[in-house]
Amino acid sequence: MSSLINDTLVKTLFKQKTAYTPCWVMRQAGRYLPEYRETRKKAGSFLDLCKNKDFATEVTMQPLERYPNLDAAILFSDILTIPDAMGLGLYFEDGEGPKFKHPLQDESTIQKLDIPNVEEKLDYVFGAVRSIKKALNNQVPLIGFSGSPWTLATYMVEGQGGTDFLKIKKLVYSRPDLINHILKINTETVTKYLASQIDAGADVIMIFDSWGGTLAHSEYEIYSLNFMKVIISNLNLLGYQDVPKIIFTKGGGHSLQAQSDSGTDAIGLDWQTSLSYARKMTNDKVVLQGNLDPSILLSTPKVIETAAKKVLDDYGKGEGHIFNLGHGITQFTPPENLDALLETVRNYSSKYHQD
Ligand code: CP3
Repeated sequence: MSSLINDTLVKTLFKQKTAYTPCWVMRQAGRYLPEYRETRKKAGSFLDLCKNKDFATEVTMQPLERYPNLDAAILFSDILTIPDAMGLGLYFEDGEGPKFKHPLQDESTIQKLDIPNVEEKLDYVFGAVRSIKKALNNQVPLIGFSGSPWTLATYMVEGQGGTDFLKIKKLVYSRPDLINHILKINTETVTKYLASQIDAGADVIMIFDSWGGTLAHSEYEIYSLNFMKVIISNLNLLGYQDVPKIIFTKGGGHSLQAQSDSGTDAIGLDWQTSLSYARKMTNDKVVLQGNLDPSILLSTPKVIETAAKKVLDDYGKGEGHIFNLGHGITQFTPPENLDALLETVRNYSSKYHQD
């Protein structure tokens, strides 16, 4: 870990003293960058980008080359590589988001679901991690990631994104046994997937629970958080206790205390929950990551500067804050606006790290 040239993010995850607040941005490699769109055209499609280690490396490196003030790289891939490896047939239709050819929509298909051969089926992801690590040359840490068991299950059952979640909710309330079967298989698969990403060189791992917030408050721990907890404790048992772990439930601001008791090192926050409130609720037990509203990046550098300072002021003094957006950067962001954000965070945050 100490071999990293810029270890600000890792130090923050261990609550060690840093000179400023580290910053990275969810979806930092993506369509808002013209160089990404160029590589995507060359690759043919988004999935071809993910499955070719040279393309995946190229797009992972693009934001780092453009923005000197980024403190981390994130593996370029997708959370849906797992259901794809399980044989559900992932595809993307232009402008419509992800879809599956074989969603889990009846009992016999669900009963047949099994843990895939992760090493073999997802070898392209671990190859990308190794290749990105080489390209990074220890400049900044590499974040590996996975979807949470619940969030993966929503896509697997609904068969696509952008739904009202009625199919999976019906299953939750009428056949909890079937949902639990899916969640257990996802949990074991995610554990293996993250362990292999760490073996391939990931310095930090993050679990994206993008749809945990769609569960009723009383069901969130039962169907989402508890399974993330199992992944964290299994990774620790496997010997990965020193690899920092971040969980991010979008819309999960109602269960911060429970999240901070999950064994995670850090919690991601969307923009609906204030950092100062989250800090109070978690008693400084975990690091907090977030939480600027991504749509602020559609405004002007002046507005962005004021908004970024407000986020930093909201967290206040001390180690334990990683600056990020509250969700992924939108494809309509003017690239120069991200410069304004990163510069403000780097310069303004130092006052919160002095003795
Ligand atoms: O952060 C990064 O830079 C790493 C790359 C990354 C992608 N997807 C690339 C991507 C990460 C971490 C993800 C995770 C992911 N994928 C999540 C969890 C995070 C979140 O946003 O809540 C989810 C829910 C998915 C599923 C997914 N993949 C959706 C819903 C879509 C379509 C979204 C859209 O904007 O159209 C994708 C495709 C996708 N994943 C793109 C990128 C850059 C856009 C692909 C393209 O058209 O080029």
